[in-house]
Amino acid sequence: MNKHTPHLKTETIVGGVHSSPRHDSAHKHVSGTAVYIDDITEPTGTLHAGLGLSTVAHGILKSVDLTAVRAAPGVVTVLTHEDVPGVNDISPSYMHDDPVLAAGKVEFHGQPIFCVIAETREQARRAARLAKIEYEELPADIDIWDLDVSTHRQVVTPLTLKRGDAAAALASAPRRVTGRMRLGGQDHFYLEGQISLAVPGEDDEVAVYCSTQGPSETQHMVAHALGVPSNAVTIEVRRMGGGFGGKETQANQCAAIAAIAAKKLKRAVKVRLDRDEDMVATGKRHDFAIDYDVGFDDEGRILGIDYTFALRAGFSADLSGPVGDRALFHCDNAYFFPHVHAKSAPLYTNTVSNTAFRGFGGPQGMVGAERVIDEVSFAVGKDPLEIRKLNFYDAMGVDGERNLTPYHQKVEDCIIQRIVAELEESADYAGRRKAIAEFNAKSRIVKRGIALTPVKFGISFTKTESNQAGALVHVYSDGSVHMNHGGTEMGQGLHLKVAQVVAEEFQIDLDRVKITATTTAKVPNTSPTAASSGADLNGMAAQNAARQIKDRLIAFAAESHQVPREKVVFLPNRVRIGDVEMPFDDLIKKAYMARVQLSAAGFYKTPKIHWDRKAGRGHAFYYYAYGAACSEVSIDTLTGEYVVERTDILHDTGRSLNRAIDIGQIEGGFIQGMGWLTTEELWWDGKGRLRTHAPSTYKIPLASDRPKIFNVALTDWSEAYEPTIHRSKAVGEPPLPLGLAVLHALSDAVASVADHKICPRLDAPATPERVLMAIERLKAMQKE
Ligand code: MTE
Ligand code: HPA
Repeated sequence: MNKHTPHLKTETIVGGVHSSPRHDSAHKHVSGTAVYIDDITEPTGTLHAGLGLSTVAHGILKSVDLTAVRAAPGVVTVLTHEDVPGVNDISPSYMHDDPVLAAGKVEFHGQPIFCVIAETREQARRAARLAKIEYEELPADIDIWDLDVSTHRQVVTPLTLKRGDAAAALASAPRRVTGRMRLGGQDHFYLEGQISLAVPGEDDEVAVYCSTQGPSETQHMVAHALGVPSNAVTIEVRRMGGGFGGKETQANQCAAIAAIAAKKLKRAVKVRLDRDEDMVATGKRHDFAIDYDVGFDDEGRILGIDYTFALRAGFSADLSGPVGDRALFHCDNAYFFPHVHAKSAPLYTNTVSNTAFRGFGGPQGMVGAERVIDEVSFAVGKDPLEIRKLNFYDAMGVDGERNLTPYHQKVEDCIIQRIVAELEESADYAGRRKAIAEFNAKSRIVKRGIALTPVKFGISFTKTESNQAGALVHVYSDGSVHMNHGGTEMGQGLHLKVAQVVAEEFQIDLDRVKITATTTAKVPNTSPTAASSGADLNGMAAQNAARQIKDRLIAFAAESHQVPREKVVFLPNRVRIGDVEMPFDDLIKKAYMARVQLSAAGFYKTPKIHWDRKAGRGHAFYYYAYGAACSEVSIDTLTGEYVVERTDILHDTGRSLNRAIDIGQIEGGFIQGMGWLTTEELWWDGKGRLRTHAPSTYKIPLASDRPKIFNVALTDWSEAYEPTIHRSKAVGEPPLPLGLAVLHALSDAVASVADHKICPRLDAPATPERVLMAIERLKAMQKE
């Protein structure tokens, strides 16, 4: 008998859905035994790459002299755009504006121009510095703040959403405020940087081990660059050391370069960026300039709103179009706007091309919504929480008139009222607001602030065709199961969740289900693991595969025991057939002997969704995930430094597939959101050089920055409104904007220096410098 004791009769399986087994690789992550790309045993003769990057933000390449580079020790070859055998383009959009290596011109400081391939990485990197490049410098647009959105070049067609008559509502509103907010970007800061190892095969074949969130997209891009069909290229990834959206498209460049070099030299080639190169040469979260014009009544009820969301796209389209779209989709956050007009402006700049980052523009849209709430609260002199509650969409079950989004989708599952009410109570918002007022009245230098902010996040890719997934399940004749699907693992626990689904389906213990690396050779045409949809899509596809096999087993058992199908029941690790019970393994053995097919490919596509971008209408999201956070901070009004004293979170993951994983996602998402809005500052100088390109200058949250008291709870009572996988809800991105509670608590603390009479209009990231400047501004305004 094997160690899994399948013959033991148990009441439930170990590790099914709604239980909390630990992350399958947790022990390997912490003990250094998890295999990342750089841990794969290198084939004999593996070569290494070093990139040559542009040193100007915008210019014509007048001459590229690589003589000294080629002559340097250890150098085997140097690749330029001329060595790309297929098309020199890895653009994920239809714009074809993302060269593998710059050709004729450069459009941002740090753009890869050539790639040195040498015996060691050190040799490649040293040699890369010997290039002599002459540029004819051209004017460069770096920042978006002063660009005119009506005339400046946009990288793709912008989106406009409208419902009702915003202009008329604004004109007739009793109160009106306009303003502008600067909102910074964010580096992904995954622990494992961009990396690919390409191993050439025979004929046109190549296998690339790549830290990518989108193996199929990487496969197509590599094939495109090589000029071969996709069937010649296999991409494999067991896990990433974090992706956070930064490996949705940005993994393709290293993969393409590695594959081109490997095919040219007939040797394995590894491309691994170091941290500085990674930060300089690969895209990030978009920073935004948000213009708002809001009309409201004396109570603080929003009547009409007009928004412009300008975003720094960088030099190419990449995903800036859909990121801008998602910002508009979330400019309402959890609030009903009776009349709304909102437009995006993805602006061309001579900076790295910005890309997907957890939330994908959604959090930026919500920042716009919450800024407006702050403005309205100060204007009418009420607690922002009161204004939030006044403007929520109708609650689930209320078929009122306040449930239409700016994109004309009806919000049918709104549970934000209950979440906020429960959190208000459990965090003692009212009691602490009073205590904070008393504290601030007595404390001259240190001031406290509190905020409770909601989250409503739409789940689905807005690109309809991306909402599909495939899976491959094999049951071997010993009863062990091999599970594969199109999703990728980046630490979020996706493989574990999908394995739980398969274990549940067969009613076998989780350790009977083998988690395997994602590869384009097993499941084709997959979507990137993004939009938080990994478990929703791949869980369903794997369930579908398991059900096909189970159906065949049921038919076989019913026939061989001469019982009706309903009399075949899968019990924990065993099967009851009529009056007979047998271990799962025995049934599998018998089925194999009877030549029953024990392997299946599963498929799933999300129902109901549709989206007409031109019309700005549709059912863009299958459902919404909700949550709320309450944060309290204290600030030092002499230095602007601050501490997060306490955070309470109540978040909705429906009927959670794995509570332990979900709570980890919520904690991590909140901290990442907090970092984005507080200390993580990307700063380009006038020449377009990113000056915050390493941990020395770019400050992600440390363990010591976490809230001193940190309470995270799930809404135990909620379940997905739609029939999602076991009625769970996506959890990858929605918790990130919970970090807004910290920004607004800081704003509240700053406001206390002017007796809560002036809206601090705190921009983000609210670094200590910005907090200090806001305090000084408010003090000066109060004196006027
Ligand atoms: N969690 C960890 N540990 N590492 C990551 O890279 N990426 C996030 C989120 N959680 C990420 C993470 C992002 S950007 C997304 S879209 C989701 O995980 C993707 O996974 P899922 O769809 O399986 O939730
Ligand atoms: N998040 C949300 N929506 C998306 C993403 C993502 O990462 N990628 C494409 N659409």
